[in-house]
Order: sequence, then structure tokens, then C-alpha cells
Amino acid sequence: MIHELNHFGIVVRDLEKSLAFYQDLLGAKIVYKGFIPPTRTDVVYLLISGGMIELLYRPEPPAGETFGITHVAFMSDDLDADYERLTGLGYKGLVAPKVAGSGVGRLAFLSDPNGARIELIQRDLEMRAEPVTHDVIKSFDHYSVLANDLDAALILYRDVMGMKVLKEMTVPHPTNPLSIVYLNWDYDVLELLHRPTPDTTSPIFGHFALRVDSVDEALTRFEAQGVSPEPGTPKPAGTGIGRIGIIRDPDGVKVELVDRADLRDLP
Ligand SMILES: [Fe+2]
Ligand SMILES: [Fe+2]
Repeated sequence: MIHELNHFGIVVRDLEKSLAFYQDLLGAKIVYKGFIPPTRTDVVYLLISGGMIELLYRPEPPAGETFGITHVAFMSDDLDADYERLTGLGYKGLVAPKVAGSGVGRLAFLSDPNGARIELIQRDLEMRAEPVTHDVIKSFDHYSVLANDLDAALILYRDVMGMKVLKEMTVPHPTNPLSIVYLNWDYDVLELLHRPTPDTTSPIFGHFALRVDSVDEALTRFEAQGVSPEPGTPKPAGTGIGRIGIIRDPDGVKVELVDRADLRDLP
């Protein structure tokens, strides 16, 4: 059974720079450090509030390497059975179950119906600890994935994997409104973004989001630490609930700041 949304995997150009961004700015805590000998890759898991990201760093990246968010990872308690079940339903297997390169646990990769790379992991080592407290970041809000085919994405994440639909919102637009569906297991929230006219230019893994008390105050604070907000932000959220701000990590990964209530507490 697949039972936990575990992390976004981010391939970074400069590990020290990325660690400085996540630790100094967002108060992230290192919960695991590993090494994958065959590809000479450093692996660092970071807890940001209660959510996890994985940084992957190769001093000599292969030609054409993709930097930024490259996969979304879920925990399974029976990797072989889940991989077989999903590929049996027609989801495209990318890497069959195998021992992880780091030697910790086993993993497999497959593709979601929109081309998002999904990692399934089975391991005994518990990397997630108590949420890290931070004076600006209140909680890890969600992991965002593009779903040009929303129905197919819902069949996978809701029906096949068993996530619950937590909330649905719409950002009005005269011709191309944005539908947002939040799916969750408790505090692990996946955001699916869908427009009637498919978005073919945005990356499939758009951003992850953190909840703050005040977006404006958070951005002022981050600016004082040398990280400027994305032009055009802060601004009122398109959903009409609170404000949003965007900052980018050293590899351009979008970190969305929101100052509304926790999704589980919204009416
Ligand atoms: Fe991963
Ligand atoms: Fe979002």
C-alpha cells in the first residue's frame, strides 16, 4: 500500500549554496545524508517545518542534466506489489524495484498520466522527525504538480493511491480558469493544477508552498537576507484567500509563500 507523500526530489548545481538557502533562510534541518557511489551523488534530506525535500548533487553532472524538482516520492509498505499493481493498470514503469543507490531501502520509478516522475520507496529508516519550528515558516503547505489531464491524475492519486480530496478551488479567468485540487494524507498535501487549455510551457513540478503569518513580512525578512521576491509578488492569491509571494531557490525552484489558514482548517 502507498501511504505517505514523502518528498520532492531536487537536483542542485551547488550543494553548499542550496543548503545555505534552505537552512539559513527557511530553517530547514538536515535529517539524512547519504552517497550513491555508482553515480557519485550526494543525497541530503531536509525537513522544512513538517515537509521533506531531497537534494541530489553530482560534482560532475552528466551532459544535459535537469536541475530543479525532478520527482515526487511516496512511501510504500510493499514496493513490489505496488509497482506491479500500478504498471498492471497501465502506468508506465521507468525503473523496476531495486535496492536504492544509497543502500538505504528499495525504490522504483514510474510516470504519472501527465508525465510527472513518481518515486516509490520502501525503507525502515524513518527520516521525518518532529516538524522544525521557525519564526517565519508556520507549516509546509503543499507540493504542486501540473495535471493537464486532471481526470487521469485524480484516478491515480485519489482512486489508485488512496489520497483524499481535501479541497477544491478555482482561480477565475475569462477563457482559461485554473482549477486547483488538493489531495492529502493528513499533513502531506499534493496540489494538482489544471486549466482547460493545457499548460505546455510550465514545468510539471511547479513549486512547493510554505505557510507564513504574513507574506509581506516574510518577504521583507528574506529580502534582508539577500533573497528578493519574484517580480509581481506579493499579490492577492487568485483564489481570493490571503496573499502569495514567490521566492526562488538557487536552481530556480519556486517556493510559494501563502498566508491563509492551514488547508485543513479552511471552511
Ligand atoms: Fe527521491
Ligand atoms: Fe501552490
